[in-house]
Amino acid sequence: MAIPEDKPLLRALAGETLERPPIWLMRQAGRYLPEYRALRATAGGFLDLCLTPTLAAEVTLQPIRRFAMDGAILFSDILIVPHGLTQPLSFREGEGPILEPIADAAALGRLKPTGFRDRVAPIAETVRRVRADLPAVVTLIGFAGSPWTVATYMVEGGSSREFGRTKRWLYGDPDGFAALIAQLVETTVDYLCLQIEAGVEAVQLFDSWAGVLAQPAFQRWVVEPNAAIIAALRARHPDVPVILFPRGAGLNYTAVTAIGAAGLGLDTVVPVDWAREILQPHVALQGNLDPQVLVTGGAALAREATRIRDALSGGPFIFNLGHGIVPETPPEHVAELVRLVRA
Ligand code: CP3
Repeated sequence: MAIPEDKPLLRALAGETLERPPIWLMRQAGRYLPEYRALRATAGGFLDLCLTPTLAAEVTLQPIRRFAMDGAILFSDILIVPHGLTQPLSFREGEGPILEPIADAAALGRLKPTGFRDRVAPIAETVRRVRADLPAVVTLIGFAGSPWTVATYMVEGGSSREFGRTKRWLYGDPDGFAALIAQLVETTVDYLCLQIEAGVEAVQLFDSWAGVLAQPAFQRWVVEPNAAIIAALRARHPDVPVILFPRGAGLNYTAVTAIGAAGLGLDTVVPVDWAREILQPHVALQGNLDPQVLVTGGAALAREATRIRDALSGGPFIFNLGHGIVPETPPEHVAELVRLVRA
């Protein structure tokens, strides 16, 4: 495929080794930015912010204006998919997301896949608005949660530490749980196609809880659903690369390198020398600075950013964090990181 000369992030995802690695940061729009907090205060709820294209587009562009990253990630949330399937969802201040839990096949049957595209139409409008305003060098990244990770929120009814209900369902009634995952695979493909048709140029799959399943469950609920989504996207949009972020996968990172993702997101604890040797021959790597180092700043930030950059810049590489930016992050440290990585 023809990669525009001026899109470093797409070139890295196509397997090129670049002299200076492109950089973007997970959760680069958000509460650590005063301009985000100001706009958020006018939006009503967090879900309203995600579903109001003028505001969501503005928030997507805020970090690009300040820091000129190589990638802009659509401002939205992985829980827009359950919302689009009509599962009641709200975000309460300081509590995170709250959903009406889905515990069995009957509750799954009450979801309404028909009408999904209409309910998420504002997201497509946000993408069109961002694309119209984005500098040509910047790659617009769409995203979705992976089926396993989204399922944990749908089944637990929110964030969880133990994933007890979800795990008891998948171990006790794998065929019933498979119906939920199959629904999420199908809807996620449709949702990412909608984003691509509206103008995103790459997509990231967030499997934030990939690290809590042991084999063979990891194979069935992490590897296979992500592989199915990537295959369907490649069939319909072969020019749009997929980045997979299987956070916490540990040694199971080797099980996801050959499922068709152009890029693999490394979490903070993956040893970069191991990743360079074992993973990078097969896939572009992205990561993996500890978000708390970005809060720390100073000499620690310089040392850690340089260590990661030097270890991975000999192959296709995109600089990022190992997980999302935290709200305590001083914006000046983000500016300093972008400078360090490009130096
Ligand atoms: O990266 C970006 O800048 C794009 C926007 C983005 C958000 N969420 C905005 C958001 C992205 C890519 C996500 C992904 C997401 N959402 C994940 C996967 C990545 C990860 O962090 O592991 C998950 C698990 C969610 C679900 C979610 N959304 C939770 C658990 C919470 C509450 C915790 C929190 O940080 O407040 C959210 C809310 C959320 N999503 C916020 C933002 C900016 C904070 C809401 C606010 O402004 O009040």
